[in-house]
Amino acid sequence: MVATAAMICSCDRQSPNGETAPSEPARHELVIDVSGALRKRLQSFSPLPEPPADPTNRVSDDPAAAQLGQALFFDERLSSNGAVSCATCHRPDLGFTDGLSLAMGVDQGKRHTPTLLNVSYHRWLTWDGRADSLWMQALDPLEDPREMGTTRGELAEIITRDEGLRRAYGDVFGELPKWLSEAVAGGQSLAARPPRRGEPGDTEVASRWAALPPEQRADVDRIFVNAGKAIAAYQRRLVRGASPFDRFVEGLAEGDEEKLGSLSPAAQRGLMIFMGKGTCTLCHNGPNFSDGEFHNNALPTLHGGEPVDAGRYDGAAVLLDSEFHAAGPHSDDTTGAAAQAIRSLRQTSETWGEFRTPSLRNLADRAPFMHQGQLRDLDAVLEFYSELAGATGRSHHQEQILRPLRLTLDEKADLRAFLDSLNGEPLSETLLKPPSTPRIDPDSAPTFPR
Ligand code: HEC
Ligand code: HEC
Repeated sequence: MVATAAMICSCDRQSPNGETAPSEPARHELVIDVSGALRKRLQSFSPLPEPPADPTNRVSDDPAAAQLGQALFFDERLSSNGAVSCATCHRPDLGFTDGLSLAMGVDQGKRHTPTLLNVSYHRWLTWDGRADSLWMQALDPLEDPREMGTTRGELAEIITRDEGLRRAYGDVFGELPKWLSEAVAGGQSLAARPPRRGEPGDTEVASRWAALPPEQRADVDRIFVNAGKAIAAYQRRLVRGASPFDRFVEGLAEGDEEKLGSLSPAAQRGLMIFMGKGTCTLCHNGPNFSDGEFHNNALPTLHGGEPVDAGRYDGAAVLLDSEFHAAGPHSDDTTGAAAQAIRSLRQTSETWGEFRTPSLRNLADRAPFMHQGQLRDLDAVLEFYSELAGATGRSHHQEQILRPLRLTLDEKADLRAFLDSLNGEPLSETLLKPPSTPRIDPDSAPTFPR
């Protein structure tokens, strides 16, 4: 490997723990060949553009909706035990994950909590892709008995009761229906929702739901969906800024030596392994380092034994069955690309055990990794890709892309340094906590880009 661009002094300005002093960034020597082909290839990874528009959500870029959504995101009242909010599992201080292998809400979950950083770049949401928009996804944890366990009826009730939320909601979506205020004032219980997939229809909440007149059920559904759309508008803003890797790519384009010095020699060598011997870019590609598709990495399971989680196979069925997808009655764009994707989606057996490729940006603070959080840190991830030790199944239908990479210790360290260079500038503090008031204050509302 030779340097073809200008050599940059390898000034030793790093602190002992490897962190670069923010005031005086260390500049590094160029140790890889950055001629034409590589330069061009790197442009498909950087810069990260603005999140793709979501026409299925008409308020997706509305700051007032995002402010309301942010209030709801942190609101523990939206749970059956009054102690769980979205932020309980998606903790802002842990990269919007929870540090656990399996999520813990009202009860123990079956999968690991993924990050919400850069989540708006994914076209299928959750590990199994059972949602096709952020707003559709938000509805599921609210009513999932293991996660938050509230009901759409109680959600409507809380928005009606809380003056701040009611006003904020009204500003974005219009007045709440009159019957609702009367029902709430009259003390009627609105703990009501339709049965979930696989649940009997005679539970207390389902019976109460069935007893509501159809127009009232339609009103509650609309409020539920609007809350999801507001939460989605907040989550769209969870995009971190440029990383050292982005500055490096910028430096290549501009011939700017200062920026070219953003990647340490180890990270530069790691980049070459990432795109070469490591074959990581087969799946982790594009500006968010995810192909957005589903693969079976044959990971060892958390508790040993063969995998039982059907992943994408079940996820596709749940998505197709839902009335909340992009082609359904609650979508604001039933003819666009997302709706077309639903119309051509089929459940196929090859997808058994597949999970969506995660983004590799902002991996800091979000260990453990994978859909069961079965790999405790990045070193364990690289060790797995290197040796495929404990790989499971891979009998029928499963894709055989992964081969043991047999990485040397130095190669693993280099790859690790490269992954560390994908951590972006932190989010604005105002996005990391509940908004000071749900009452909309246009001056304090977050706007994209931050
Ligand atoms: C009990 C912990 C828990 C709570 C509470 C919770 N989540 Fe999650 N979240 C998870 C887990 C686990 C997954 C992965 C689900 C799966 O793949 O089956 C997930 C997935 C997601 C995803 C998809 C991310 C991706 O990369 O595809 C989004 C978006 C999300 N949650 C947002 C929310 C919002 C909004 C709320 C509140 C309304 C919420 N979550 C509440 C644990 C939680
Ligand atoms: C065949 C496609 C594919 C290839 C090749 C691949 N990955 Fe992955 N990667 C995935 C999928 C899918 C997951 C999630 C797997 C799961 O949870 O079951 C994942 C998960 C990860 C995670 C965990 C992220 C998280 O949020 O939990 C890291 C880190 C990672 N890959 C890095 C790499 C590196 C580095 C390489 C190259 C050495 C690589 N991957 C090669 C598809 C791939």
